[in-house]
Amino acid sequence: MKKISDHNLTLKNKKILLRVDFNVPIKDGSITETSRIEKIIPTIKLLIEKEAKIIIISHVGRPKGKVVKEMSLEPISKKLASLLNKNILFNNKKLNENTVSEVNKIPNGSIMMLENIRFNAGEELNDKEFAKKLSNLGDLYVNDAFSVSHRSHASVDAITKYMPSYYGIQIAEEINALTKITSDIKKPVTLIIGGSKISTKINIFFNLIKNIDNIIVVGAMANNFIYYKGFEIGKSMVERDSKEIFKKIYLEAKKYRCNIIIPEDFLVSKNYDGEASSKNIDMVEKDEIILDIGPKTIQAINNKIDDSNTVMWNGPAGYFENKNFAIGTNSIAKKISKNTSEKSLISILGGGDTISAINNSKLSLSFTHLSTAGGAFLEYLEGKDLPGLSVLK
Ligand code: 3PG
Repeated sequence: MKKISDHNLTLKNKKILLRVDFNVPIKDGSITETSRIEKIIPTIKLLIEKEAKIIIISHVGRPKGKVVKEMSLEPISKKLASLLNKNILFNNKKLNENTVSEVNKIPNGSIMMLENIRFNAGEELNDKEFAKKLSNLGDLYVNDAFSVSHRSHASVDAITKYMPSYYGIQIAEEINALTKITSDIKKPVTLIIGGSKISTKINIFFNLIKNIDNIIVVGAMANNFIYYKGFEIGKSMVERDSKEIFKKIYLEAKKYRCNIIIPEDFLVSKNYDGEASSKNIDMVEKDEIILDIGPKTIQAINNKIDDSNTVMWNGPAGYFENKNFAIGTNSIAKKISKNTSEKSLISILGGGDTISAINNSKLSLSFTHLSTAGGAFLEYLEGKDLPGLSVLK
């Protein structure tokens, strides 16, 4: 692989297509978490110093090839401009026949950000024609978006066939840290996994069960396991048609001696803005929503963290946006941080929501590695070849 900062490349006058992942949480038009933007600043500064013309490509959300106003990158371009203290030209149109001439006009050392690349139907299809058009905008491509490198999309994968391609400083940091940790993994290993959609994370279970000693399931992900076991989950988020999958997960876990640990108690409420009441697994009512793990579960998780030499964590334990339901997530974060500092626990955390939850907590915490990636982080841990990285090899 070629790193953009390792080479004595002359970048003056060159148009650099910089693929980043600015898929950050936006609420009422404001960005609530900026880590993914901040992490790219070293690469951008390097390109500015080298007097390149920088064309930033990113996605936000899953607009499925359509223009969705709420998923515009405009507020993100403003945030980046304020972080860099530099003007950014925002190109608010989908890619069209004028984009090349618009890009050609930008001066050396300046930045143009394109509108959400997923507004173009060809992006998620990894369409060759679309990738070719995109490549016509620049002289050189840089991928600095580790967190989207598990997607075979045109601006991550196909584009590399049409122009000289490099990787950025942020990707290099992620890979170095993850390689170092995973090449000499210290058992017992515990994975704490939260989030919502089981279907997007299902393969992760099948692949990681083979190498991991404990998988602790929290957050909305746990509702599926609790429902599978036959308990009432009220109005909580769940994927009701996945019972067969759970049967297989438990069979595989038995085969590879991986303990699957699910919550035994919760904090519930009748709505997302409500107050919390504590319930055992068998006490949830039909009109209640499970929004956090309860004190017995927190204790059980703390004990497992104490027994572990490596902990990996992706996905919050509850609806942390309401502080009444941030208790589980904050407790896990504090315990992992304490053991990392005091007991040489190796801790790797990943995912946009996990980072948001940690930043929201305002706690002073320390971990071995904090990855901005969610899905890509988990697929990397599974040992998969990420399409966006293998094309750069
Ligand atoms: C992420 O947030 O994990 C990345 O931006 C990828 O997003 P996606 O799951 O919508 O492809």
